Amino acid sequence: MVAMRGTLKGRDVISINDFSREEIDHILKVSDGIEKDLDSKFGLLSGKILSILFFEPSTRTRMSFESAMYELGGRCIDMGPTELTSVKKGETFSDTIKVISKYADVMVLRHPSDGAARYASEISDVPIINGGDGTGQHPTQTLLDLYTIKKESKLDGANIGILGDLKYGRTVHSLVYALSMYGIDMTFISPPDLSLPEEIKEDLDDKKISYEECDKIEEVIEDLDVLYVTRIQRERFPDILEYKKVSGSYKITKDILEGGVKEDLIILHPLPRTGEIDPDVDDTKYARYFLQTKYGVVVRMAILGLILGGFE
Ligand code: NCD
Repeated sequence: MVAMRGTLKGRDVISINDFSREEIDHILKVSDGIEKDLDSKFGLLSGKILSILFFEPSTRTRMSFESAMYELGGRCIDMGPTELTSVKKGETFSDTIKVISKYADVMVLRHPSDGAARYASEISDVPIINGGDGTGQHPTQTLLDLYTIKKESKLDGANIGILGDLKYGRTVHSLVYALSMYGIDMTFISPPDLSLPEEIKEDLDDKKISYEECDKIEEVIEDLDVLYVTRIQRERFPDILEYKKVSGSYKITKDILEGGVKEDLIILHPLPRTGEIDPDVDDTKYARYFLQTKYGVVVRMAILGLILGGFE
């Protein structure tokens, strides 16, 4: 499905780069309006159906999209585990997309291959939302990350550090591109083998966005307004021995925070976490990762409502 830029109605959400800063600001503004007056939005998508096609595990993305659709009075159909579908009988990805796009008004897709969502959008009769494509992008996660930063800290002039698996983490890739649209300078903290892909760094250079790279969070944490932590994407490593070399190489603990951080530092994480934030951090004033998941519902309500014409 390919629609005109300028309105969000009928648009696919494949890459954050498909959106201008003005369009992103608009999505954040609509999200804020929804959050302030949630009850009045029920029924806006009545009669509309979201289909959910996940070829990879998910908790938050799947369930927050469902919750968002129900909050707006719409309904969802979920393909469920691929083992129970015709994918198991050998049906092609393209046939699956063609068929399911006839059953719904919009589709959210998660797939292990980079570019799968873009390909699906060329086949589908209805808008496709990329719920994560391999090591590519995860644009709706980025929109809720931006919303959380805006609400809980600031977007303009913030010093943002991104820690973890910057090589394979798709939430990082889309977030970096989005922050670059806001002219934000970033600090990338990762084991050297998991640094940000060269092509993304080249894109930042082209846009004259400056960034620093280091491998120890302790060296930079005191200057950060926002610390975005990610897990090591174990399932993306071609060789498990390579994973073992970096596993457990960083962990945010209360001790690190007590070593000196800004008063109003906020810590975000797309979740799931697998040991990189100690649970003791959860009840510090810095933790915002569970609130971030809550904001995911209003932001996804905004996205669905704008695509399906429930909101202007
Ligand atoms: C992320 C993903 O699937 O990319 N999860 C999510 O949607 N919140 C992050 C991850 O799996 O590490």
